[in-house]
Amino acid sequence: MTFVPGLLKGRVAFVAGGTSGINLGIASALGEYGARVAVFSRNAERVEGAQRLLAAGGVDAMGYVGDVREYASIERAMGACAEWAGGIDIVVSGAAGNFLCPANELSANGFRTVVDIDLNGTFNVLRSAYPHLRRPGASIINISAPQATEVYFAQVHVSAAKAGVDMLTRSLASEWGHEGIRVNAIVPGPILDTEGMARLAASEEIREAWLQANPMRRFGTAREVANLALFLCSDAASYVNGAIIHCDGGQVLGGGRDFSSSWAALKK
Ligand code: NAP
Ligand code: COA
Repeated sequence: MTFVPGLLKGRVAFVAGGTSGINLGIASALGEYGARVAVFSRNAERVEGAQRLLAAGGVDAMGYVGDVREYASIERAMGACAEWAGGIDIVVSGAAGNFLCPANELSANGFRTVVDIDLNGTFNVLRSAYPHLRRPGASIINISAPQATEVYFAQVHVSAAKAGVDMLTRSLASEWGHEGIRVNAIVPGPILDTEGMARLAASEEIREAWLQANPMRRFGTAREVANLALFLCSDAASYVNGAIIHCDGGQVLGGGRDFSSSWAALKK
């Protein structure tokens, strides 16, 4: 237990892409602290599984099947959630797609697919949530990625998409702030036991290199990302708006450009 029990009692959360990994971790944490939680994703079995898992933890949970790329499908789910729970207070937009592919091998449809899920999908989630948000006091959290601001090989599609997510975060924080709707983003670093890590860190060697490049010399957990989400959607963050916050052990500081081994050699 990290926060005050019942921190989010009476709140309703909609977590897009909330049926696995980091987003499911966030959904579980929001529920643990009292929110009613709806999760949304494409795969019906996953949706059912996540809903069952949340309910087993004592969360009042709902699940909707759909695709963030299709406005009608997310609009329908958002409306159903608002009807189920009487409104929406918290929205997490975390649905994403990723694979490694250098630009010269990436098809136009491959590029478009990732931009469509991550960027257009995030707009669709936020835009469809807007009429249902209880304000003042609503909180939106977009899940970004380090690729939004740093260049990684074979990640042009993700960089383009997540850079857009960051600007959506800032733009809507600016447009909606006066209504009492806060829009922030979390940038997770490498998080253990996730699909994202499995797809990008394909070998033990790569994982070891990443570990050495991280100032904390360890990977993060979904729970650590969820703790930041809990803060951002609580009243404790009532004046935090348009912020893009890293939860990465300091990876963004550029451990890969660390001269500590040269320094150690010079001192010998
Ligand atoms: P994950 O387990 O693959 O989660 C992705 C979720 O999005 C799944 O629930 C998936 O369910 C859903 N989804 C995918 N496409 C969708 C679509 N078109 N419409 C609706 N739902 C869709 O991934 P993860 O690794 O935990 O990553 C979660 C988030 O964190 C992503 O935004 C990712 O970019 C970000 N992130 C992850 C890491 C990391 O270390 N893992 C690092 C930085 C950022 P369905 O298949 O059922 O649709
Ligand atoms: N390398 C290169 N191109 C790829 C690819 C890969 N590994 N995987 C898919 N593509 C391309 C496909 O070839 C296709 O392009 P084409 O029509 O020119 O051949 C395009 O991307 C769409 O692929 P498709 O499989 O039809 O997309 P989808 O909508 O069914 O699935 C993905 C979307 C590809 C992003 C899929 O990996 C997914 O659902 N991911 C969700 C989970 C995830 O990525 N989690 C990590 C989050 S960080």
